Amino acid sequence: MTEKIKVLLSEGEVDAKIQQIGEQISKDYAGKQVHLVCVLKGGSFFMCELAKRITVPVSLDFMSVSSYGSETKSSGVVRIVKDLDEPLKGKNVIVIEDIVDSGRTLSYLLEMLKDRGPESLRLCTLLDKPDRRVVDVNVDYTGFQIPDEFVVGYGLDYDQKYRNLPYIGIVEFE
Ligand code: IMP
Ligand code: MG
Repeated sequence: MTEKIKVLLSEGEVDAKIQQIGEQISKDYAGKQVHLVCVLKGGSFFMCELAKRITVPVSLDFMSVSSYGSETKSSGVVRIVKDLDEPLKGKNVIVIEDIVDSGRTLSYLLEMLKDRGPESLRLCTLLDKPDRRVVDVNVDYTGFQIPDEFVVGYGLDYDQKYRNLPYIGIVEFE
């Protein structure tokens, strides 16, 4: 199957939005330090760009989860592939995600991270597809709400391709 990519959010729009979120986080955490937890691989491009725009002290950690399912739908069964290097106890944690879709991955992950005793725990996602929500998830910082389309770019993949696109595009299958 071949596919075409149609631009949904340009590089300029995405960059401007990340700048805004960075400023908001810097305000909200004034006088504190934030610990960004990136959900690999999709969240990595967003986290790096966001971290550069946060003016309070930042530390970073990474984890990788895999949700069993088809290429375009998650099943809700989540497995930790790579855990965090550092404990979360006493830290102001912000989980950085590429997209919240059904919410299954995130609701599982946030419950697990809460048990590790962070001082605070928030969620920041570049994209949100609210129409697809199956499990309720409280998102603290959202870049863009988008329609129910399969998107790639800025870390998001289709079959491991297109993560490196500097914009968000809709995948059109032909
Ligand atoms: P959820 O558990 O259904 O919320 O799934 C979230 C994960 O599914 C995301 O972190 C992505 O890895 C993947 N995903 C959901 N929608 C898309 C999409 O439109 N493009 C690429 N990956 C997606
Ligand atoms: Mg993801």
